[in-house]
Amino acid sequence: MEKHLQSNAAITAIGTYTPDKILSNADLERMVDTSDEWIVQRTGIQERRIAADDQYTSDLCIRAVRNMQERYGVQVEDVDYIIVATSTPDNVIPSVAAQVQAGLGIKHSGAIDIQAACAGFTSAIQLANGLLLSGVYRKILVIGGETLSKVTNYEDRTTCILFGDGAGAILMEAGTAAEGDILAISSHTEGAGGHHVYRSGLSPSINAADIDTTSRIVQNGREVYKWALSHVSEGITELLRDSGYEPSQINWFVPHNANQRIIDALCDRTGISEQQALSSIERYGNTSAASIPLALDAAVQDGRVLPGHLLLLYGFGGGLTQSGVLLRWSI
Ligand code: UT7
Repeated sequence: MEKHLQSNAAITAIGTYTPDKILSNADLERMVDTSDEWIVQRTGIQERRIAADDQYTSDLCIRAVRNMQERYGVQVEDVDYIIVATSTPDNVIPSVAAQVQAGLGIKHSGAIDIQAACAGFTSAIQLANGLLLSGVYRKILVIGGETLSKVTNYEDRTTCILFGDGAGAILMEAGTAAEGDILAISSHTEGAGGHHVYRSGLSPSINAADIDTTSRIVQNGREVYKWALSHVSEGITELLRDSGYEPSQINWFVPHNANQRIIDALCDRTGISEQQALSSIERYGNTSAASIPLALDAAVQDGRVLPGHLLLLYGFGGGLTQSGVLLRWSI
């Protein structure tokens, strides 16, 4: 379902944070039966960041917002709403967003977590855009943050080589311009495939034959890979076509960084050139809801992403859910 938008929302700042500790492929070679060569060839990942034992998702999110404030000089004490996309909240209750509100000393703000796995950050932008357009709220913090290392089984070589920790934040504000930064959005979900990547909760129904009760992430990588190449490439093509843009008009394609091979294949199938794709998977691995802001911010900081550029942000993964945002970068 693609939607042409009314939007008055401007993205006015971006910031990120990743923990200091590095988990390299060489480290993983000592932990499971794998090799640097296999990991690099199959995923493009060289290393990932791992949160300290006493560092949780809310800590990473707060650091990302502080990074944003230092770089852009923006105030956040007066935000109306905080939306955190995460699959690895510190606790189920209270929300990470409420912890962020407390940690940053924000006075009167709504605070919710949303869970759309690797499509979380783009889904949160879509929600924030709607709230700003309604006129009820004028300033919203949108954050994607994960501490996947805390729910990764480091004895399972099919998942532990993939995941890393990090957080990215943007500030979205209602502007006066007739056209905001957000140009078009899209969402698709195929819940029947949900058992291909899951983190178990209360119900055994997600994978009754093989329920993992540890609440760690379980993935049938091959199935998710096939879905990404077929269905996600279709979703991207539809969003571009229905919003009236050619792949060549996109300055930067910022897909969820799950696997470099998937990013390259999505480019191939959608007609977007690999040079247009932003990836930070080599340094950070798969950081789920944080991967899009991490890849985007790296390119903002090194001057590749510039005001006026057309960006296609595209999240996809657990659900199975995909969520796209076409936007004009203006800072
Ligand atoms: O972010 C949420 C969404 N998730 C994704 O988008 C992930 C999508 N999937 C993937 O990225 C890839 O499927 C993986 C990177 C997870 C796996 O790559 P693959 O090319 O699909 O490998 P495979 O699962 O087909 O496994 C190929 C072989 C198997 O051995 P056999 O059966 O051929 O003998 C695996 O057992 O590679 C083996 N293998 C490994 N070997 C060395 C699996 N993991 C490893 C490993 N090191 N870490």
